[in-house]
Amino acid sequence: MLQIVDHFNADPKKIMDLGCGNGFLAEILLKSYPEAIAILIDHSEPMIENARINMKDYSERCEIINGDFSESLTKYADRATVDCIVSGYAIHHLPNEQKRLLYSEIFDLLAPGGIFINIEHVASATPKIEKLHDKFFIDHLAPHNNKDRSTVSIEYYNRSDKMDNILERVDIQLKWLEEIGFNHVDCYFKWMELAVFGGVKQQ
Ligand SMILES: C[S@@+](CC[C@H](N)C(=O)[O-])C[C@H]1O[C@@H](n2cnc3c(N)ncnc32)[C@H](O)[C@@H]1O
Repeated sequence: MLQIVDHFNADPKKIMDLGCGNGFLAEILLKSYPEAIAILIDHSEPMIENARINMKDYSERCEIINGDFSESLTKYADRATVDCIVSGYAIHHLPNEQKRLLYSEIFDLLAPGGIFINIEHVASATPKIEKLHDKFFIDHLAPHNNKDRSTVSIEYYNRSDKMDNILERVDIQLKWLEEIGFNHVDCYFKWMELAVFGGVKQQ
């Protein structure tokens, strides 16, 4: 994310992190850009609390807001004023129609030259590829959690938040970004269902 932001917009002054969690992404950006300010948005109060604690060293340069990014973003910033909008593993909870609307709103909010980067869980191209993703994921989770593979597999396939993930293929989402008007649209990095993609608003 940082390498891509740096390449296209090396001096972002205003940053927005949608679905900030504990502020992990905003923190990396604020550390890298000492002149920047950031607006962090999350709709979970426990996450907002975590962000307040985690971001305490940056409290003068960040505003942490309990808000839902599926509602209008224009209450958080004026149109064409934000240099960099990022999101990590959050937008896939929206239905596809709403994802596309959100991308349009992001485009409106970006200043000329501004960049949007979404680090995201995306759909596999086919069910067989999805199976491979799941296999790799379970292979990784089992030793990481010190559990046997079959237990992790059962937990993984029966996890309670499975239905909250409304995944869409990255190529389809890139097409939406192009249709909205973004330039330099690409999937900059992808490993199975984990993708880093986005685009830039022309100067
Ligand atoms: C998996 S966490 C990722 C947190 C952080 N972005 C990261 O990369 O570490 C997803 C976050 O998105 C938030 N979220 C999901 N849907 C949201 C929405 N519609 N509005 C605001 N926040 C949302 C959740 O509350 C959660 O904190």
